[in-house]
Amino acid sequence: MRSTILVTGGAGFIGSHTTVALQEAGYRVVILDNLCNSKPDVLDRIAQITGIKPEFVEGDVRNDRGLDRLFETHAIAAVMHFAGLKAVGESTGQPLRYYDNNVSGSVHLLQAMDQASIKTLVFSSSATVYGDPQKLPLAEDHPRSATNPYGHSKLMVEDILEDLYRATPGWRIARLRYFNPVGAHPSGLIGESPQGVPNNLMPYIAQVAAGRHPRLKVFGNDYDTPDGTGVRDYIHVMDLAHGHVAALKYCEHAAQELLTVNLGTGRGYSVLEMIRAFEHASQKSIAYDIVARRPGDIGACWADTRLAAEKLGWHADKGIAEMCNDAWRWENVPT
Ligand code: NAD
Ligand code: UD1
Repeated sequence: MRSTILVTGGAGFIGSHTTVALQEAGYRVVILDNLCNSKPDVLDRIAQITGIKPEFVEGDVRNDRGLDRLFETHAIAAVMHFAGLKAVGESTGQPLRYYDNNVSGSVHLLQAMDQASIKTLVFSSSATVYGDPQKLPLAEDHPRSATNPYGHSKLMVEDILEDLYRATPGWRIARLRYFNPVGAHPSGLIGESPQGVPNNLMPYIAQVAAGRHPRLKVFGNDYDTPDGTGVRDYIHVMDLAHGHVAALKYCEHAAQELLTVNLGTGRGYSVLEMIRAFEHASQKSIAYDIVARRPGDIGACWADTRLAAEKLGWHADKGIAEMCNDAWRWENVPT
């Protein structure tokens, strides 16, 4: 058995899949989650996949006493920090809630880790920190910018981590910039459960295929892309999960480290290509209308994946068909 990893936000979409990957790699997992965007039944579902139910602590990363108690009572070797809020539109209306959860939450967690001399952290950043791409593919040294509080919160935590790394010897930090995570575990036992109407393309397409919405709105067909619709680098959530395990192992072998790396496939798909791929997977036709661009959207975005390959020996394996098949299987699981 390898060491024990604290996974904040481990009941959520990416955290639950990463917990599976960590357990399969031999790590013990303790999940800390306040369940503001997830349900505790995910723990039994993880146990059905891996045979091991992760230990669960219901709590908030902003609760200092709770964190101190957790670190006193568990021999935590490293932390994977997923806990946070992620809805871009909502962040514009509720900036303080986003800064409190995402920025203060990270600061409280880092203080407690520092106090407990736990100095290995894998952090969920986002390709949103690249703003409107000046050059594709997006390499890690591309200038950063943000246009909404969610994006600013990711930029701020990236900067806080850099300041901490420079100020205090011995930290081993991976800042992972995710492109567009989609799909679900192939078992159909865990997946993404957006509350209300989904903002993101893949869950919306899946719900149209399932008859939960009549039609998809395609936000613009006048971008400078081959078919005019937006192009994104969709990555299967299990590939993303394995990227986290690779980043953790990389940090474990370093004396100190500040690693910033893209997790994407390096290949973009347009909205219309995604519709066709999902129609193929589901054998359903997806009705859609072309409507105006969504404010704040960019035309195209995909990752330069060379640094992840070089540093982590990791690359995404799963293609668009698997992403759609697994998302469709999950969509059809009775809840
Ligand atoms: P998610 O909402 O499914 O999971 C986040 C989990 O954190 C939830 O279970 C929620 O209950 C928990 N949580 C939120 N605030 C908390 C707090 N203060 N204390 C304890 N638990 C808290 O989201 P996800 O898609 O799994 O995203 C995980 C991380 O990855 C987030 O930081 C997100 O910003 C980042 N990210 C996500 C995407 C994406 O498209 N899903 C892309 C880039 C980056
Ligand atoms: C969104 C977030 C971004 C986050 C990323 C990864 C916004 C504005 N941005 O970006 O911060 O890092 O997810 O999770 O929310 N589309 C439609 N119809 C829909 C939904 C989407 O046509 O109903 C199009 C979009 O215009 C885009 C593509 O599908 O071209 C993907 O959209 P989405 O899944 O929301 O991801 P991002 O726009 O990349």
